Amino acid sequence: MTLNDRLDRPLRDLRISVTDRCNFRCVYCMPREVFGPDYQFLERDELLTYEEIARVTRVLVGLGVEKVRITGGEPLVRRDLDRLIGAIRAIPGVRDLTLTTNGSLLRAQAKRLAAAGLQRVTVSLDSLDDAVFRAMNDAGVGVATVLDGIAAAREAGLWPIKVNAVVKRGLNDHTVVDLARHFRGTGIIVRFIEFMDVGTTNGWRLDHVVTGREIVEMIGREFPLEPAEANYRGEVAQRWRYVDGAGEIGVITSISQPFCGDCTRLRLSPEGQLYTCLFGAKGHDLRGLLRSGASDAEVEAFVASVWRGRSDRYSEERTEATAGLPKVEMSHIGG
Ligand code: GTP
Ligand code: 5AD
Ligand code: SF4
Ligand code: SF4
Repeated sequence: MTLNDRLDRPLRDLRISVTDRCNFRCVYCMPREVFGPDYQFLERDELLTYEEIARVTRVLVGLGVEKVRITGGEPLVRRDLDRLIGAIRAIPGVRDLTLTTNGSLLRAQAKRLAAAGLQRVTVSLDSLDDAVFRAMNDAGVGVATVLDGIAAAREAGLWPIKVNAVVKRGLNDHTVVDLARHFRGTGIIVRFIEFMDVGTTNGWRLDHVVTGREIVEMIGREFPLEPAEANYRGEVAQRWRYVDGAGEIGVITSISQPFCGDCTRLRLSPEGQLYTCLFGAKGHDLRGLLRSGASDAEVEAFVASVWRGRSDRYSEERTEATAGLPKVEMSHIGG
């Protein structure tokens, strides 16, 4: 089944945020001044249950979704996440089931997640310099914990593993080449992400952005790189291969080279709002419908109408002025 939006883009990926909480306070995502002790996170009964999430996923697979990513906040802080993984794994038609995590709880959970049917993981790690990394996550977690989480994922058979690193000028751009060097030849693909103006709390400015081109130049000076073909239409990361055969890196250039034209992603928030763009101001309420006793056919009709009406292309329309508009936080809707 192919359901297209107003810009003729099919629905293919579903990103499910299971919580707005996180055990990190990354300065570019959940700055402590905003996400402090008084911050009102969602209450438990506001969250969609795993049964509700699995039901929505089943309906969306019927509308064309093939790829499901679990995200947050930090998804592994929500209790018994392996139950949700198992429920989604059981849906025929889910070809790719993966998870984005900060890695700090992977050692404890990797085996259970793999046993429940998770295929692979993407782990965020912004620097291998311990002081830089601690300053960025602002939660007292060191590099060794995340590397150990990655090792645990690998041992559990969660593969391929990708590492996401957000690059912010003046903060960690001097450690980019080290990160590339560390993972060269390991089969783990590092993707460097341009710092984005998601949400309204991270103090984004254009001059904080280090472009994908600059990153490729920095790394390429030490380890020559050549462009590689995309794995599939609409791949977010641009691929670059080491000329000497030691693997590849990716750059995610949402600021300098936006990729809205091929955006096939729908996002579900922890409290059951559908967002048709990462930079959306407001979602479409699905929870109300689910809890009013709607049938699957009614849920399907609602979701299909949301997708058909979609015309988002925020990253292509971005200006310094749009950065200040109200937008959902990344810690709420996920990456
Ligand atoms: P693979 O399936 O492993 O190729 O992953 P992916 O390419 O879907 O990448 P992933 O979900 O790991 O996303 C990497 C990062 O890219 C996210 O954390 C975001 O920072 C950014 N990103 C992902 N999707 C979008 C999007 O739709 N718009 C924008 N602007 N950025 C995105
Ligand atoms: N810009 C780019 N990437 C971001 N992430 C969080 N906030 C931002 C931002 N402002 C990344 C995280 C993680 C993924 C889920 O999104 O570091 O890798
Ligand atoms: Fe950092 Fe991810 Fe947590 Fe945001 S959600 S604070 S990027 S670990
Ligand atoms: Fe998709 Fe919105 Fe990102 Fe563009 S900015 S790629 S439409 S999520």
